[in-house]
Amino acid sequence: MNTFAKLQTYMTGRKALLPGALLLSALSALASMSPYILIWFIIREFLTEGAAASGLIYTYALWAAGLAVAGILLYFLALSASHLAAFRVECNMRRVAMKKIVNMPLGFFDNNTSGRIRKIIDDNAGITHGFLAHQMPDLASTIVMPLSAAVLIFVFDWRLGLACLFPIFFSIIIMTSMMGKRGRYFMQKYMDSLEEMNTEAVEYVRGIPVVKVFQQTVHSFKNFYNSIIKYKEMVGVHTKMWQIPMSIYTVIINGFAFFLVPVTILLIGNSGDYATVILNMFLYILIVPVFSQSIMRSMYFNQAFGQAKEAIDRLDKLTSIAPLAKSDNPQKIINHDIRFIEVSFTYPGANKKAVDTVSFDIQPGQTVALVGASGGGKTTIARLVPRFWDVDEGEVCIGGINVKNIAHDDLMNHISFVFQNTRLFKTSLLENIKYGNHNASLEEVNRALDLAQCREIIDRLPDGLNTKIGTDGTYLSGGEQQRMALARAFLKNAPIVVLDEATAFADPENEHLIQQALKKLTEGKTVLMIAHRLTSVMNADNILIINEGKIAEQGTHYELVGKKRIYTRMWNEYQKSVKWTIGKEARHA
Ligand SMILES: Nc1ncnc2c1ncn2[C@@H]1O[C@H](COP(=O)(O)OP(=O)(O)O)[C@@H](O)[C@H]1O
Ligand SMILES: [Mg+2]
Repeated sequence: MNTFAKLQTYMTGRKALLPGALLLSALSALASMSPYILIWFIIREFLTEGAAASGLIYTYALWAAGLAVAGILLYFLALSASHLAAFRVECNMRRVAMKKIVNMPLGFFDNNTSGRIRKIIDDNAGITHGFLAHQMPDLASTIVMPLSAAVLIFVFDWRLGLACLFPIFFSIIIMTSMMGKRGRYFMQKYMDSLEEMNTEAVEYVRGIPVVKVFQQTVHSFKNFYNSIIKYKEMVGVHTKMWQIPMSIYTVIINGFAFFLVPVTILLIGNSGDYATVILNMFLYILIVPVFSQSIMRSMYFNQAFGQAKEAIDRLDKLTSIAPLAKSDNPQKIINHDIRFIEVSFTYPGANKKAVDTVSFDIQPGQTVALVGASGGGKTTIARLVPRFWDVDEGEVCIGGINVKNIAHDDLMNHISFVFQNTRLFKTSLLENIKYGNHNASLEEVNRALDLAQCREIIDRLPDGLNTKIGTDGTYLSGGEQQRMALARAFLKNAPIVVLDEATAFADPENEHLIQQALKKLTEGKTVLMIAHRLTSVMNADNILIINEGKIAEQGTHYELVGKKRIYTRMWNEYQKSVKWTIGKEARHA
């Protein structure tokens, strides 16, 4: 679909606005051209009739003034229509994008942070506004004005017309050659290096704390500096490249009198009717600048059009991932066992399977642990259960039902998911915890807080449960936030619990409390857990070693230690690291 058609689809029900704006703007252009002709009539009357023609001159003048005013009014109306259209498109673009994003698979938000999503939607919807509100109505006059001017210059005197057209013709050739292939190439380069510079700037700012800690100022600045230099050189080269054609263009388009005057003199010499010829020449001097204006305007239009096209494409790209399919007749979850049947999954755009024909099951009330080197696919496996993404091959089933056939709400109600690093919302703690269950009573909230070992945190805060997180310097440490997230999970009390390195970012003290809370949270539940500390998986009913998307080994802790393969190696390493820590602490004591 081309850009205009795409823009029209966002117009919903007001498809006449934009063509209307174009028509009004074209009429306005005609109205503002007509005083030129009337002035020509006035001067002619004056030259031929003198004072006797004052009545007629007066009428012409009135018409000229009236048409000039009408031109302005029509333009105003055109702009009103185009602004209405532009706001409508902008608003609908945002609405459509948000609607699509709300229905995106949860995994989409891994690669697209809220800041990035907001920026892409806001910026790109905004860009189309300028194009539709201003450049579009100008397009009509950019076409109508030079066309009517071209007709005029031939109607009055075709020989003078030719003299004027010559430089215009030339400048259009120069302009199109500048805007052509080379121009587009430059534009692309320009945008690329601008983006690179912006990215490096963000990287630089983001890295400042690390840079300061490691005293690496010069090195870290290098990439940013290089991108600026690259940008500067690129712009420099292209500016020089355009220096000559642009100068020629400016001279020719403004120097049309250079051709006009000699032709006028020739014509006077030939015909002897100097009055008409000079009169025509004045008209031409008035009209010809219309062409240069139009050429400039068409350049701006071209640029704005390119940007609008790019903006729509970028938005389309953001929202191009298909939403999760909804089942036509969803089935209710009754049993809480989880089963993976030959599941494979590849991330969109990746060329390697993140999960490769994985099969395992978790009986109701059992715990299965995933361990293995980072990047192996543990998180991906865990996320396939609550349908962060849909599998490419195989099936993920809960209670024998494929998760694709379970209604989204039902699925979410049955699973508690605790991530590596939970973020709390910028609202009161009470609200934050009630995300687990909006209908919970205060009593239930308090019980969940106790179970999650959060009592001590609440007691310390000035407003207790009503303390707003993230304001007035009230921040919680990573481990404390994790305990709050657990309180949320307790409140939800879902029969299936998925834990992804829930203690990864906690300090030892928090970790101990979190472990205690986790023990209670997972009692009697069906649990899929990922852990990097092997002591926390020792009691699992089954341990899967995940490597390169596959199950490399599995069994209980004792079975696996007996096998003397990967797990045994991991276990020995782990033992060593624990001893090392204890030994170090003992020396310091
Ligand atoms: N959101 C994502 N988009 C694309 N690739 C991803 C994404 N998340 C993880 N991957 C890739 O999938 C593979 C498995 O990652 P992951 O499941 O996070 O492993 P683990 O949890 O075992 O460290 C890795 O190669 C990783 O780079
Ligand atoms: Mg992980």
